[in-house]
Amino acid sequence: MKLALIGFGTVGRGTYDILKARENILKDTVGGLEIAYIVASDRSAERLGKELPEKVVTAKDYDAVLEEVDIVAEATGAMDMAYDYMKRALEAGVAVVTANKAAVSAHFEELNGIAEEKDVPFLFEAAVGGGIPVLTPLRGLCLENEIESVQGILNGTCNYLINAMFKEGAEYDATLKLCQELGYAEQDPTDDVEGFDTRRKLHLLIEMAFGHVDGDAIPTRGIAQLNGDIVSFLNEKGQKVKLVASAKPVEDGIEAVVEPVILDAADSLAILPDAINQVNVKGSFVGDLAFTGPGAGKEPTGNAVVADIISAATKSAMPLLKRGVKKLAPVKGRYLVAKKLSGDVAEREEGDFTITREISREELLSLIDKDTFFARIESQSL
Ligand code: HSE
Repeated sequence: MKLALIGFGTVGRGTYDILKARENILKDTVGGLEIAYIVASDRSAERLGKELPEKVVTAKDYDAVLEEVDIVAEATGAMDMAYDYMKRALEAGVAVVTANKAAVSAHFEELNGIAEEKDVPFLFEAAVGGGIPVLTPLRGLCLENEIESVQGILNGTCNYLINAMFKEGAEYDATLKLCQELGYAEQDPTDDVEGFDTRRKLHLLIEMAFGHVDGDAIPTRGIAQLNGDIVSFLNEKGQKVKLVASAKPVEDGIEAVVEPVILDAADSLAILPDAINQVNVKGSFVGDLAFTGPGAGKEPTGNAVVADIISAATKSAMPLLKRGVKKLAPVKGRYLVAKKLSGDVAEREEGDFTITREISREELLSLIDKDTFFARIESQSL
């Protein structure tokens, strides 16, 4: 089997290193996976050409590359360019594997449609939960079970940042700065802290577990409103907040949301350390499952890309159960709100905080402004 690896950043290097380290094992089992081409940007092609023994080419050579290879591993992290590379490969009948959650989430229906039409694998295990094998088992679980819920922590930056705030009792801005210095947060942290990265990953979990939804329409709130007062209030009560992605089928569609959620401090999502991710899946026959592991990083993510390359090479990818288009249903819950709320929505007040009765998320949003912290209560003791 011949492979083209597009992009040689963190994920591309991780993928390359694992393919090289496991070359003999893959030869004995899969029958050999030759990295025939590295497709690089014009800027880095010359440098990589000197560093690597493989043929390093650029975008202008891509059509010729597609004529020769069986699998394209897209590892650019780009958006439009990555979409173009993947679409052209699938149209040419070449299998595509990728770690690119943004491009897959934005173009899921189209890319998956082309893959089906051409009957070639289109796999993106590395796009959700980094090194955690979750999409592949989930595809399988869908064949045996009705999936009753999917819930998880899908963003390492937010998990690390929240853990640090709870440990140090520190303020949000200072903790974010520390995370940036330690390399746990990007210089522009918007995608992570506003929940958009989590939303893309939840979207892909929903596509696997429940059917096609408009990913951009999933209600999303990040953690930027969290502050030291909220952390102290929750710490004193043995509670913790985490940025949680949730989806479950309900009567009128799929109830899906990304938002801060209050959990008992001993809950498996509450105690999740560092930048680790976890996806909880409840199946009608199997019951409760938890998939936990490193949600990012060169080698974990490279491992997931290589796993998909092996599935594509051996034509052993789990089938994707098709369930058509699903509507996003309204979200409701009991909420902790960092504001005194008048009217009948309050179940009780505690200091400057309100604990609401079960209300729709939409009603809650109409009562607060964009800077007011709120979190859905899942803890049994608040
Ligand atoms: N920014 C992402 C995270 C990287 O913090 O989880 C992995 O998708």
